[in-house]
Amino acid sequence: MNNVTITVNAQTLSAPEGSILLQVLLDNGVSVPHFCYHEALGVDGNCRMCMVEIEGQKRPQIACNTRVKEGMSIRTLSDSIMAVKRSILELELINHPVDCPICDQAGECSLQNYYMEVGLYESRIDRADKVRKAKKVDLGSHVILDQERCVLCARCTRFTENIIGTGDLVIANRGNHACVTTFEPQGLKADGYAMNVVDLCPVGALTSGDFRFHQRVWFLKSDPSLCHGCARGCSIFIDHYPQKYGDDLIYRYRPRVEREVNGFFICDEGRLSYKNHTGDATLTTPRYSGTAITLSEALELYHQKLAASGSGVVALASPSLSCENLTALRDYCLQYAIPLFGVERGSFDETFGDDFLRLNDRAANRSALPLLGISEDESEMNAALCAASLVLNFDNQTPVSVDQIHFCVHPIDTRELQIPIAPYTEQSGSIINAFGKVQKFASTIRRRHPVPPLHELLSTIKGLA
Ligand code: SF4
Ligand code: SF4
Ligand code: FES
Repeated sequence: MNNVTITVNAQTLSAPEGSILLQVLLDNGVSVPHFCYHEALGVDGNCRMCMVEIEGQKRPQIACNTRVKEGMSIRTLSDSIMAVKRSILELELINHPVDCPICDQAGECSLQNYYMEVGLYESRIDRADKVRKAKKVDLGSHVILDQERCVLCARCTRFTENIIGTGDLVIANRGNHACVTTFEPQGLKADGYAMNVVDLCPVGALTSGDFRFHQRVWFLKSDPSLCHGCARGCSIFIDHYPQKYGDDLIYRYRPRVEREVNGFFICDEGRLSYKNHTGDATLTTPRYSGTAITLSEALELYHQKLAASGSGVVALASPSLSCENLTALRDYCLQYAIPLFGVERGSFDETFGDDFLRLNDRAANRSALPLLGISEDESEMNAALCAASLVLNFDNQTPVSVDQIHFCVHPIDTRELQIPIAPYTEQSGSIINAFGKVQKFASTIRRRHPVPPLHELLSTIKGLA
């Protein structure tokens, strides 16, 4: 597309000819209230909130259904267009329960923001005259619907219809009684992607049953990261709460836009996997014979066991460890002539993948193994394990019958030596997804007593060797 020049509120912009005017305005930081348009869902034109004035046009136009042309002159802030937006918002809010103080969307609600930006009118509707609807409908898949707060933008229904193709959600009834609902008795499933409707809903009508009322969003900090739930490596935000006197707690994962990998969405299983990395879910203290020990005691035991095993030591690496951790591990094993394998039995799940985002390969960084020269030869690994007297297991889930030392993220039900390593949520690094894309992640999540990432721990162990 050729670029053309347009004027917005007397400022000159360059934009591709024929592109969606609303998207151009948003991309250039021009605030235009809108409910139904979403880049991932396209134009629907039902909410009428995105009105702008276009020179030469008699009436205001919706920016989402207007294509950019050379020489267009647009106004978004004149008194007359502000009055139009105010009256449309008033119509949207005609039956709204105005229960914002107890709404979990507060702080990230477009309706609240637009009221402050273009509304600020006194309500002319008596609360007793408003149409009442269901306040807490469990749609299934951790999604809760408040029908009274819905602005009928149809983002959620278009997601299940056009993106997932299940059509689980519909708008039923007409006029004041129109409401979002599901076909009974299936409820909302959306093939494992249902919780994306919570992100898409611009108001407090769809909230997450997992997150709602657990933390106010303005207390949360967001870090860019990558889901490690499968080999796609979807981009996410980790929303966490830095406690004053305790460990940071993770409250939710949200999708982060990465067009080449996951677009605007993530799967529900990946979204809920934050629970594996927060609070008591991870191992924070070394353990031996079922008892907590100090790190220096654990490292002493480690060296004793290593010395007693002579040349019968084999190392197994999780194919989900970051490139930085795998590199440090490969170098450590090379230095001490320990055979290292990146095979993990059970890390392919034939029931998990689909034709949207999820992949059967549940390892986040398998693509890095050949690049780092780490063996993926399962028969060689089996032969080495048969001859081994000690296995150094770096978070690999392969069942092993030989005595092991576990460097692990999660506690294991064993009396063997377990030494904690930091989960990916508590370190920075990079992984390479199934399509060869190198992606970086970073985190500022902190524990009062931090657990070191594997590469840091290995440099400590090297020093002691
Ligand atoms: S529930 Fe939310 S996303 Fe769905 S139509 Fe209502 S406001 Fe829009
Ligand atoms: S598709 Fe894979 S990487 Fe993406 S959110 Fe789901 S489990 Fe995580
Ligand atoms: S965003 Fe344009 S009509 Fe809804």
